[in-house]
Amino acid sequence: MCGIVGYVGPKDCSEVLVSALSKLEYRGYDSAGIAVFSDNEIKTVKTKGKLKDLEDKLSIIGSPEGNVGIGHTRWATHGEPSDVNSHPHSGARVTIVHNGIIENYIELKEFLVSKGREFLSDTDTEVVAQLLDYSYNGNPLETIDNVMAELKGSFALGIMFRDFPDRIFAVRRESPLIVGVGEGECFIASDVPAILQYTRDYYLLDHDEIATLTREGVSFVDEHLEPLEKELKTADWDMESAEKGGYPHFMIKEINEQPNAIRTTIMPRIKNGLPCLDEYGITIDKIKDFNSVTIVACGTAMHAGMVGKYVIEDLARVPVNVDIASEFRYRNPIINKGDLVIIVSQSGETADSLAAMRLAKKKGATTLAIVNAKGSSIAREADMLIYTLAGPEIAVASTKAYITQLSVIYLFAFELALAKETISEAECKRLVSALMKMPEAVQYVIDHCEEDCKFVATKLVAAESLLYIGRGLDYALSMEGSLKLKEVSYIHSESYAAGELKHGTISLIDENMPVIAVATQTDIIPKTISNIVEVKSRGASIILVCTDACARGLKEGIADYVIEIPHTDELLMPITAVVPLQILAYYTAINRGNDPDKPRNLAKSVTVE
Ligand code: M6R
Repeated sequence: MCGIVGYVGPKDCSEVLVSALSKLEYRGYDSAGIAVFSDNEIKTVKTKGKLKDLEDKLSIIGSPEGNVGIGHTRWATHGEPSDVNSHPHSGARVTIVHNGIIENYIELKEFLVSKGREFLSDTDTEVVAQLLDYSYNGNPLETIDNVMAELKGSFALGIMFRDFPDRIFAVRRESPLIVGVGEGECFIASDVPAILQYTRDYYLLDHDEIATLTREGVSFVDEHLEPLEKELKTADWDMESAEKGGYPHFMIKEINEQPNAIRTTIMPRIKNGLPCLDEYGITIDKIKDFNSVTIVACGTAMHAGMVGKYVIEDLARVPVNVDIASEFRYRNPIINKGDLVIIVSQSGETADSLAAMRLAKKKGATTLAIVNAKGSSIAREADMLIYTLAGPEIAVASTKAYITQLSVIYLFAFELALAKETISEAECKRLVSALMKMPEAVQYVIDHCEEDCKFVATKLVAAESLLYIGRGLDYALSMEGSLKLKEVSYIHSESYAAGELKHGTISLIDENMPVIAVATQTDIIPKTISNIVEVKSRGASIILVCTDACARGLKEGIADYVIEIPHTDELLMPITAVVPLQILAYYTAINRGNDPDKPRNLAKSVTVE
């Protein structure tokens, strides 16, 4: 999604803006630009392509010299990626950058055209720039406030008025925006990593609040233009955690961070060998009466929910629905007062997940958010909240966020099972103790499976399509394995419940379709073996991810390649079994010459529908 930055201070603004934008590259983008007050005018430089293209253009035409400006990386929504559609966009006296979607931009554009305004681009953003210019009354705050009242949709805006060369303005509705403060300088940014090299102190801008940034500091007003006092926050993510730290890509760095991410996430939530979630408002008394659970999320986070379904149903005997947020929100779902709806999200800003949570609340449900990004919208609006403490996840392909989402879901499942009295305290302690061993188990898999995965990845490089199969938890996990592979390698893949293959999909199998079979659940291993044999006898080459225990039960020669992982408590196997699937996806992407950190067409945080 688009990235916004802005700067007011003593430094070379162009340099700060480009550097800050480089820390937002992970969000995904197709063009970039900056605007700086320079020689009494607003100078804009923008281009289709990557930041490198912008830097090349700046070095040819010269960077605008000045100390106040805004910058942007664009992920195209309205209008193709092109120089002219890139941000910043301007009216005669106003220049803006925008993240989000203006839903009523066509009506607004028609109105402005009827007033004689002309447009250069296809974007909804230019409509806002022109509307601000059209509405300008000499008072920027009043103008912004009046225009906000006209806008429908989601937006975060960085705004410069030609008449106020010492300041920038920022406003948001739905789309995230933060305001950073340093010594004699202020920043705006879509996300914390953009400002970490300059300051760790920041404010979260709330809906319909307007910030004015000058060298002297920042002031805030609400939608009635009443002054606001806001709480200054300090980022506990340091620069190092947002850098590659010697790894070639964030994706492999983050895969390697998983043991620590699990440890950091679970340890503070365990007391006397039992889950302890009281601090998050989750007590036995509070949750014992929930008779059903709905988990709503998108993508990888939804896949964590799929594992959650198997685990919660198995342990707590409570039915669990897992819903894709974009479906849930438009489906008039059956959610009643007193139901529990869990929203899982790394960014805490995914537009569909946020809307789904609001809908669940409206229907009277109690909401529990499992979120990674501190202070994000989902985190702030949920009734109960457990943070995954994965640290910043920069790679678009989610890895450590998924594994920490699983970790939190396990802890919650244990607590719910205790509350429902479907497991004893002793059994719960046994499970918690097994969970506490997972950081070492994941480390073992990273240390011992990377070479196998690297080798198998060389065999996948020419594949056009792949199937992932498994049963039970292995099926839930396969969904994530399949998504990981397709998003970074661009090889088509599907995950299938192994027993369902023969009802249609097996017709796809031939020698050109590799099958990745996940088999970690001993009780159903004979069934999975039968399914593997079925596809093997139709020519598929088999890559088998299994535990040492399962490997022993497998007949000689069933698989072409085996990636063996250690046996842990079987309920917890997804935590270790996902790791080879992540590494396999990573090396397949590398072998195909793709940048795994910035897969085409994808954005890290999907803040628009
Ligand atoms: O920030 P969220 O967890 O809400 O994002 C949801 C999905 O967009 C996300 O999980 C996506 O599928 C992953 N980046 C894929 O690796």
